[in-house]
Amino acid sequence: MPTSLRILHVASEMVPFIKTGGLADVVGALPKALNGLGHDARVAIPLYRSVRRKAEALGLTWSEHPLVIEAGGVDHRVGVGTVELDGTTVYLLACDELFDRDGIYGPSAGMDYDDNARRYAVFSKAALALPGMLGWVPHFIHAHDWQTGLIPALRERGFQRTLPATRTVFTIHNIAYQGAFWHFDMKLTGLDWSLFNPLHLEHYGRLNCLKAGVVFADRVTTVSRRYAEEIQLPEFGSGLDGVMRANAFKLRGITNGIDTAEWNPWTDEALPTRFDLRRPGGKRACKEELRTELGLVAAGQPALVAVVSRLVEQKGIDLVVAAVEPYILAGRMQLVVLGSGDTHLEHRLRQLQTRHPGWVHAWFGYNEELAHRIIAGADLFLMPSRTEPCGLTQLYSLRYGTLPLVRYTGGLADTVTDVASGSGNGFTFGPMDYGHFSSVLDRALGLYEHFPVEWKQAMKRAMGADHSWEQVAAEYVEMYREIMFVG
Ligand code: ADP
Ligand code: GLC
Repeated sequence: MPTSLRILHVASEMVPFIKTGGLADVVGALPKALNGLGHDARVAIPLYRSVRRKAEALGLTWSEHPLVIEAGGVDHRVGVGTVELDGTTVYLLACDELFDRDGIYGPSAGMDYDDNARRYAVFSKAALALPGMLGWVPHFIHAHDWQTGLIPALRERGFQRTLPATRTVFTIHNIAYQGAFWHFDMKLTGLDWSLFNPLHLEHYGRLNCLKAGVVFADRVTTVSRRYAEEIQLPEFGSGLDGVMRANAFKLRGITNGIDTAEWNPWTDEALPTRFDLRRPGGKRACKEELRTELGLVAAGQPALVAVVSRLVEQKGIDLVVAAVEPYILAGRMQLVVLGSGDTHLEHRLRQLQTRHPGWVHAWFGYNEELAHRIIAGADLFLMPSRTEPCGLTQLYSLRYGTLPLVRYTGGLADTVTDVASGSGNGFTFGPMDYGHFSSVLDRALGLYEHFPVEWKQAMKRAMGADHSWEQVAAEYVEMYREIMFVG
């Protein structure tokens, strides 16, 4: 068995090129960590319009000839750009008629382009054609989320001659996003119509890309152990729980890590003052600076409570808006929100800010540096998600000594333990309702106000835990080896 594995990761996002959520963080970090363990992990992503300039600044070079990818009777020329990023080779697949647009998935947040089936079918086929062009045949193609869900099906039924020994791994980062399209889009895949049935690519009359990945991959993983269990239940399966149960034999949960170089409070250049477990003093200064930056009054030293999130139903922001007001009025907490998403949630947060100037600050949009400063400066981080496949921000918060208050679900349950256990690092609640959320918030603020020693101990436990990718990457390697020569 070879000691060094060749793995091609294929995804629609990757830090530092393009990011709408945690998927990009994972695709930025996991291949790097695999390379750190001595493997040859490379990445393929689409060359979106906003990626081009960043890639050029990093020394983008082009292959001599483009790939020609057919989809539904139309030939697309796909240029192959290459960038070396900290020792990881990244292929940027360029097809201007599909990816040279202002948006990533759609013209604005929450909207989809109506040719997304074509865009990602072409991208998936191009990723499979890449090894032949490069003369570099990976042992594994590791596809992430619905945008690349066709890859395992195509490898199995279309590219089996060119990639006979290559195994496929498919990772679900969020089962709620499935890439479901009308049945005529089957012709874009080039796969036989006989596969359009409920055991394979069809799900209730539609072509379902996520299902294609699950059914055809040699191994399916998802991003936390608990989420791997949850998605087999109707409550969490978004209609695919039966498919997940049927494929449970090859499903594994591997809880994400975090990029500990990027999220290190001792070296973080976004912070006004640095701190860490051994030198925690700077955290207070970060809090005071953050208050000044955001125009929050400091009187009485209330707890600084933060949210950094996509503002969507999944994240439970509605509970935050519904529950915090009595605590703000009582002078017990200030709220800082950084996020973007649903306009009705933004509207409600704006109203909250107007009612409580100096006590609530909401910043709408995407701001990487501010995210670092908020996570460093806050005392408590709220994440009452309805579902959470893994969640990364609670892990960043732990590392920065900001205790997370989370709903006990998915990766949040895997990574946060309630202080009530005596050895916890945050606060958890179960039922998704106002009463339970409000009472755990009350309990968290109570601990902050009256039990500083216990609070500090929980902070230490939070900051001391190891969530680095190195360990997690080793788990992926173990899984790759299990399927290496099977079948
Ligand atoms: P999800 O992928 O479901 O959005 P995660 O917790 O896995 O949730 O990842 C979210 C990522 O996006 C984190 O890196 C977080 O810091 C970042 N993020 C979310 N909203 C913003 C924002 N408005 N500004 C900057 N970073 C953000
Ligand atoms: C998805 C999930 C999030 C997870 C991220 C990275 O966006 O919603 O929970 O942390 O993927 O795996």
